[in-house]
Amino acid sequence: MYLIGIDSSTTATKSLIIDGDGEIVAVGAAEYPFETPHPLWSEQHPDLWWEGTVSSMRAALEQSGIDAAEVGAVGVSGQMHGLVLLDEDGVPLRPSILWNDQRTGKQCDDMRLWLGKENLVRITGNDALAGFTAPKILWVKENEPEIYSRVRQILLPKDYVRYKLTDDFATDKAGAGGTSLLELATRAWSPTVLAALEIAPDLLPPTHEGTQVTGVISAEAAEATGLRAGTPVVGGGGDQSAQAVGVGAIEEGIVALTLGTSGVVFATANEPFYEPEGRLHAFPHALPGKWHLMGVMLSAAGSLRWHRDTLAPGTEFDDLVAPAADVPIGSEGLLFLPYLTGERTPHPDPFARGAFVGLTVRHGLPHMTRAVLEGVAFGLRDSFTLMQGVGLGEIGQVRVSGGGARSALWRQVLADVLGSELVTVNTTEGAAYGAALLAGVGAGVWPDGESACAATIRVTGSTTPKADAVAAYQKQYELYQGLYPALRATFDGVRQGEA
Ligand code: XUL
Repeated sequence: MYLIGIDSSTTATKSLIIDGDGEIVAVGAAEYPFETPHPLWSEQHPDLWWEGTVSSMRAALEQSGIDAAEVGAVGVSGQMHGLVLLDEDGVPLRPSILWNDQRTGKQCDDMRLWLGKENLVRITGNDALAGFTAPKILWVKENEPEIYSRVRQILLPKDYVRYKLTDDFATDKAGAGGTSLLELATRAWSPTVLAALEIAPDLLPPTHEGTQVTGVISAEAAEATGLRAGTPVVGGGGDQSAQAVGVGAIEEGIVALTLGTSGVVFATANEPFYEPEGRLHAFPHALPGKWHLMGVMLSAAGSLRWHRDTLAPGTEFDDLVAPAADVPIGSEGLLFLPYLTGERTPHPDPFARGAFVGLTVRHGLPHMTRAVLEGVAFGLRDSFTLMQGVGLGEIGQVRVSGGGARSALWRQVLADVLGSELVTVNTTEGAAYGAALLAGVGAGVWPDGESACAATIRVTGSTTPKADAVAAYQKQYELYQGLYPALRATFDGVRQGEA
């Protein structure tokens, strides 16, 4: 039997086929753009995800040479928090407003006012954040009332793909957690929040666990994709929880650290823990009976890319990073603050900015490179610090993935800054792989997520922290922690000069 995972991200949709042992059989991908029609806006038309699903699925099926009748189930994952509004015919009423859109500052303030921030965090596990779905719904209601009056269904991006595949409206509980409308403890839509925001509950889809079957491939979708009509489709998960399943970060004490453009620190919890000030995200996990806490840094490997493109354009990352290994720990007094695109954790501030602090004439490109690697590691440590404050047990192992994790120097810096063992695993297809494993549980290949991960995921490498480096970085981290409070007023000031 074969299993398929779909990951519909901001830049591409990927379809991944694995066999019953978890081995990758084929991968198809289709890329697309997103639009920024106004400052702070980020939008994408839902049809791009469906077209991406059709072409990537066709490519994967063709590459694999398998018979679609042998596909046991399909799992769906994708970008979180985006808003999709459908009319009575199931047609999108406007482009989707994406997770990285920042237009809803006023609506977040309204939500805090109407519900009380403490209450909102207690119910949903999260503060009102501009990227989340609920404030986007309020924005459309307020700014595009004619469109809002025609809304019959609200969906998340990956659930639009699910709808096109199955004709059913449904979502997964991990993704639903990212709307600000779900009760964290009960994993059900919150009547209190819906009433306060005056959002009709019947506009929202039913919620399912990530391993549950939510529908089957329709005849029309079978025709379009090459899949067999009647193939089960499971709940799957928002990309972060699916990614965590895909690297086996499904137990307390094992943290998934993803070093992509953004940096994500993801910790599983056996109870609905949350950070009382809402500085960490708290959502259900894609596996039943589990939750997770998550810190999101907006420019992680994105900071290194900016650094390279700006100061050493055309240089290979390996050539850029190699000389930084000879720079002493602490970059001889140079600190880097990685808030190049604002920040979410620990400072939910779209107007936070990046900085090099401590520059002297002695510093050259290798110092600046090392400072970037260290600054990103310090920013990620902020998420670990917050997690340790909410009662979550000790972090025993960090499973690192994403483009940035390919650098051995960066892995060592991270192990030393975090004071934890960092391991790599054999799986590299992230959220799509996790979605395929969830599909496997839905199809009965494995009895549960734990067995699925145990059968397919192995540790392939380890980086251990060095005691003297851990101590040296502790001092640097304390200096780093002082930067944002010291610079906040300056960031507000320099903003006036931005285009
Ligand atoms: C998670 C988040 C991003 C998006 C992008 O909170 O905002 O990971 O899901 O894919």
